[in-house]
Amino acid sequence: MIGVFDSGLGGLTVVKELLTKLEGYKIIYFGDTARTPYGTKSAETVTRYAIENTKFLLKLGAKIVVVACHTASSTAMSVLKQTFSEVPFFEVVTPSMEKALSLTKNKKIGLIGTRTTVASKVYDKLFAKRDPEIKLYSNPAPLLVPLIEEGWLKKPETRKIVKKYLIPLKMRGIDTLILGCTHYPIIKKLIQEKAGKRIKLVDPSEEVALSVVKYIKENPEFKPNLQLNGLEIFVSDLTPYFGKIAEMFLGRKVELKKVALEEIINA
Ligand code: DGL
Repeated sequence: MIGVFDSGLGGLTVVKELLTKLEGYKIIYFGDTARTPYGTKSAETVTRYAIENTKFLLKLGAKIVVVACHTASSTAMSVLKQTFSEVPFFEVVTPSMEKALSLTKNKKIGLIGTRTTVASKVYDKLFAKRDPEIKLYSNPAPLLVPLIEEGWLKKPETRKIVKKYLIPLKMRGIDTLILGCTHYPIIKKLIQEKAGKRIKLVDPSEEVALSVVKYIKENPEFKPNLQLNGLEIFVSDLTPYFGKIAEMFLGRKVELKKVALEEIINA
């Protein structure tokens, strides 16, 4: 059983990728809709939530945990790995960093993400270790999450804001851009249009799904079983609006199951 968690429903972009690449596995997803957003919260708070979410997924029987949330992947991984040392974790930052390294020619890479992701400097540290010649230029893009959740995917306002966020990165001459947030793949086309053809995009949902698939194929204990195939989605708060957002991210109608926040906190 594959456990996936996110601050909300944006992490379903990762689930969508997993579903296209894997058959015969049960996926359980937890979206922390009661405590979303994570992207404006402190690293300490996000780490505490990430521990609780992981405990909940493990309690349900998850054998691997995918941290679909970019903010949690940027801030909580060392504590998560220490706290649950036996659990194989997958996060979105490392595979995105590797992909960006493989794509860049001029070693100038851009990053957009939530404020907390950018402030964590996780990418700066990883690039410095892997290739000190890499120049990373980051810009927080906090308005994009609410615009996407409102479904304003092609509105002129969204186009203008995307353009504005990309200007300082383009001025630095980046040739690669990391879409450092669960939501951005939904407007990938628009971002590509505003970035221009010369800039290559890194979609973390694709990269993390590839690393999960590779791990599963290499580990015989994760045998596919078509009878187990399926997706179960839990949320810590439920409104009709969340149902609509989930449908947008997953591309189809889904049932959301509400779990009390106390159950997460006390998992
Ligand atoms: N899931 C978050 C991320 O990928 C975006 C939404 C939030 O701020 O909680 O960083």
